Amino acid sequence: MTALGFYNGQFVQLDSLQVPIEERGHQFGDGVYEYVQIYGGRPFLLQAHLKRLERSLVAIGIPNPYSAEEWTQLINEAVRRSGESEAAVYWQVTRGVAPRVHVFSNTLRPMVSLTVYPRVGQESTHEMSLLAWPDERWTHVWVKTINLLPNILAKEMAKRNGANEALLVREGRVTEGGSSNVWFVFKQTLYTAPANRYILNGITRQFVLKLAAQLNISVAEEPVDWQRVPDADEVFVTSSSAEVTGVSKILVDRQVEGALHSVPPGIPGTLLPELKNIRTVWTGTCPGTVTQRLQQAFSEQLQQLRDAVPAELL
Ligand SMILES: Cc1ncc(COP(=O)(O)O)c(C=O)c1O
Repeated sequence: MTALGFYNGQFVQLDSLQVPIEERGHQFGDGVYEYVQIYGGRPFLLQAHLKRLERSLVAIGIPNPYSAEEWTQLINEAVRRSGESEAAVYWQVTRGVAPRVHVFSNTLRPMVSLTVYPRVGQESTHEMSLLAWPDERWTHVWVKTINLLPNILAKEMAKRNGANEALLVREGRVTEGGSSNVWFVFKQTLYTAPANRYILNGITRQFVLKLAAQLNISVAEEPVDWQRVPDADEVFVTSSSAEVTGVSKILVDRQVEGALHSVPPGIPGTLLPELKNIRTVWTGTCPGTVTQRLQQAFSEQLQQLRDAVPAELL
């Protein structure tokens, strides 16, 4: 299947898309987005994603163009048209089209774009390595904005240095990954950063918290100090695309380590520096036993979704 698009009320081929030049999404990054995975033709945790979308829109004052029912219908219709039962749906809402000035009028018509891609990769089978990177994003990370430049650069640095994901650290504390939430196990207790303004409260994170409760795994929603990372028994990440993925290695560059604690003075020549002094901070069994229990419970839920009786047969 080729990817399917939806823009401005129409289903379209991706290469036929034409975004108006003055669309604020691409001129200012003035918009928010969501991403869900489709299993057996059904979106996973869609209503939770729609609630978060609503919160993000309210936060930046864009009216929600659709009700939850309309979004659900649109997403299901897009999946149906794609003919793909294992897929990923990305959609964004931007403030709309207007002459390029920073301030905006409240009468703009929000623009919706959506893509359905066949899903590559398998559930939670691969392992990840992380590169620690300074979390220098703004302090409203809880809003799922399309402004992802710091995340993109952090993930690019991870990739250039042999890791799959960035481990973001702000003022000496781990916040989250470049596009995932991060979890540590210390002595059978799960630790993950609290859902405050410094992380995106992942829908997968919220779901894994429920699974942990069902499995009687104790949880502390507390930030983990960077200094404590070497003592972790297990590390894993969660996101809609990564599901629950074990981490096998955490790396850091000696020159970058100071910036994990405080923002350095001075302006660097590049935000993509060549790293010459990388060391391994942590290695461990991957997936560890707690991670495996959560992966198992997670895939059972996905299987239930795939096995559910189609709504049209009820
Ligand atoms: C910065 C960040 N944190 C966490 C997540 C995980 O969120 P979710 O589980 O809702 O996919 C994402 C997903 O895109 C993300 O970009």
